[in-house]
Amino acid sequence: MTQIKSAGYSVFINKDITTEINRFFKAAKGSYSGIFILVDENSLKYCYPQLVEKIEYFKDAEIIEIESGEENKSIEVCIHIWNTLSEFGADRKSLFVNIGGGVISDMGGFIASTFKRGIDFINIPTTLLSQVDASVGGKTGIDLNNLKNEIGVFSTPKAVFVNSEFISTLERSQQLSGFAEIIKHALVADHDYWQKVKRFDLADHSGLEDIITASITIKNAIVSEDTKEKGLRKILNFGHTIGHALETLSLEKKSKKPLLHGEAIAIGMICEAYISHKVAGLSKPALKEITSFILKTYKHVNPGKTDVKQLVSIMKHDKKNENDTINFSLLSDIGKCEINKTADVTVITEALNYYEQEAKQIL
Ligand SMILES: NC(=O)c1ccc[n+]([C@@H]2O[C@H](COP(=O)([O-])OP(=O)(O)OC[C@H]3O[C@@H](n4cnc5c(N)ncnc54)[C@H](O)[C@@H]3O)[C@@H](O)[C@H]2O)c1
Ligand SMILES: [Zn+2]
Repeated sequence: MTQIKSAGYSVFINKDITTEINRFFKAAKGSYSGIFILVDENSLKYCYPQLVEKIEYFKDAEIIEIESGEENKSIEVCIHIWNTLSEFGADRKSLFVNIGGGVISDMGGFIASTFKRGIDFINIPTTLLSQVDASVGGKTGIDLNNLKNEIGVFSTPKAVFVNSEFISTLERSQQLSGFAEIIKHALVADHDYWQKVKRFDLADHSGLEDIITASITIKNAIVSEDTKEKGLRKILNFGHTIGHALETLSLEKKSKKPLLHGEAIAIGMICEAYISHKVAGLSKPALKEITSFILKTYKHVNPGKTDVKQLVSIMKHDKKNENDTINFSLLSDIGKCEINKTADVTVITEALNYYEQEAKQIL
């Protein structure tokens, strides 16, 4: 079992997390008046049964099931869940348990943090993305009119329990979506880790727990130093300025298969690596290395033709932008990221063209 200490809570990583979860409840000494578990249909089917089998405390819990998908990370679904909590008589001493991917932990954390001015919650992340990223760090929230994470609060869970074996039932595209955040952790913080990530075979799950632990360690070190994203934490936004805009556009189009978060971030990282080369000193060989690894890994992703004007207008809404300029976190080298860099529309357009040209050669 690995325990990573964060600001006021711990992340426990183990193939048998139920022992740790039972220990958590024992330590709480019956102080919770009720337990409310948030799941979607997949985490209910694939993860909840293994947990409830070994966690006595979950047997009497109320299960709140929502439909999976980013489009449900919305205020309407929150209202439904707040109503459910009210109807079931949840009070300030209730515990909220998020079992699922990033949609569940982002929205569930937000619901718990606002219900009766905040009740305790724990995260049991079941996707690669939520294990290495979304469940750790205290950012919770929902989308507003497809604008990503427009509403939310910083609020930390009481604990996070990570079992890498949950990944075995996850679709390959979802596994790759989570892998994008692992790539990001390497690119912004650790050149040696980048070498390891490049060699990592996602199909071989024997090394999964190690890589999840390494990624959480990197993310946790960054967020523990800057919990409210005043400075350093912004490096975790690498790839996300363009990535979030692509994700929003894809959600707006209501396409049958909207881009997954990590897929959008993967494209965002190629574009922002190009901008890094233009304005932040990233060398050409490093740009090429990043581009070819990401394109090779995400050959199956096709964002369609992008409308630069629309993308830029979405980026202007992005919370990372101050004074109406487009702000980026950019790489000066692999493993080194600089915050508060700006780029103009011409360079952003070039970056998108660069992605399209490079992608054409591989796809
Ligand atoms: N708060 C943060 O710091 C942070 C960081 C990164 C991403 N995010 C957010 O996370 C969200 C994306 O998270 P995600 O990729 O986990 O998406 P998700 O929650 O939509 O999960 C992806 C899919 O996997 C299914 N699933 C979950 N666990 C499963 C399992 N064990 N087996 C089979 N299927 C399973 C889900 O039902 C869903 O269909 C986005 O909304 C993004 O904005 C937040
Ligand atoms: Zn992300």
